[in-house]
Amino acid sequence: ISLKPYNTFGIDKKAKFFAQVFSEKDVIEALSRAKKLDIPLIVLGGGSNILLTQDVDAFVMKIELNGISLIKETEDEVFVEVGAGENWHDFVLHCIKNNWAGVENLSLIPGTVGASPMQNIGAYGIEIKEVFEGLYAVNRQSAEVEYFPWEACKFGYRESVFKNTLKDQYVITRVLFKLSKKPTFHTEYGAISQTLDEMGISDLSIQAISKAVIHIRQSKLPDPKEIGNAGSFFKNPTISIAQFEKLKANNPTIPGFPNEEGIKVPAAWLIEQTGWKGYRQGNIGVHKLQPLVLVNYGGGEGNEIAALSKKIQESVLEKFNIKLHAEVNFI
Ligand code: EPU
Repeated sequence: ISLKPYNTFGIDKKAKFFAQVFSEKDVIEALSRAKKLDIPLIVLGGGSNILLTQDVDAFVMKIELNGISLIKETEDEVFVEVGAGENWHDFVLHCIKNNWAGVENLSLIPGTVGASPMQNIGAYGIEIKEVFEGLYAVNRQSAEVEYFPWEACKFGYRESVFKNTLKDQYVITRVLFKLSKKPTFHTEYGAISQTLDEMGISDLSIQAISKAVIHIRQSKLPDPKEIGNAGSFFKNPTISIAQFEKLKANNPTIPGFPNEEGIKVPAAWLIEQTGWKGYRQGNIGVHKLQPLVLVNYGGGEGNEIAALSKKIQESVLEKFNIKLHAEVNFI
């Protein structure tokens, strides 16, 4: 079947086998079928972080487990368990409706709940590791369901154990979140407070923050329903303080955000400086408002996008001696 409806880049590539799974029992069944067929298995959530460069000679398992249940409630907190196939933004809206705080800054991120811990999704000053409690996943070898508490997930910037040492070993089926009934508002990330002002909102609430985030995202990130894309194509690189100082001498406007490992530089800025912002070649290109996002205007091929991403990496390496790493997974 064509995977076009199942990846937000809208790339038309086929899967040899395809199954939608609605329960852990289905997951185990699909694992056993893939084993019998002796072909690799690929787990698909919302398809919002993948680039298909060829037909997929594999068993594609589309995660459809749903449900949001309140597990436990204390005076200050709620613990909710969410099916991996739930749409992330629908979950955020559910939290906002119930006055559960913690995910409002993560409004409108494409993809599913099951994929969210995978790369520790983040935006506007928050990462899911801050509201994450644990998850259940099926071990692909043993077909047993295992629980991973927070520490076991080894979260980092767009990283978790499931992208590293445990890559392709587990199928995430349920995620537990710890949300707050007494919100702490995070408006420190540049555009949020400015947007709240522009929208004339002075009373802070999780509803207001969500509205502001939705407004910012809609104003500069292309909607995958209109223009194929997978959000940020690259991670923001962290460079040493020494390298940053050296670059700053020649590029006084270079933005930098200190972290534990050095200085994080916006990849968007590096790409803009190398002249790729708004570039278009046939059906693919670099978004004109947010150059960190590569786009498929329709009918583009995954390997064309892959080739463009390589050219961008080469330009940035040549001009700044900085290596950009893809955030999107190539299949
Ligand atoms: N910038 C430019 N030119 C541009 C756009 C941005 O130079 O055309 C520079 C500016 O200095 C700006 C900075 O880049 O201040 C940061 O831009 P922005 O706030 O848009 O965020 P980002 O670093 O490009 C990251 C995440 C996004 C997330 C936003 C908001 C990564 C790889 N990306 O982008 O996440 O929504 O911050 O928090 O960390 C995603 O992962 O798919 C994603 C969209």
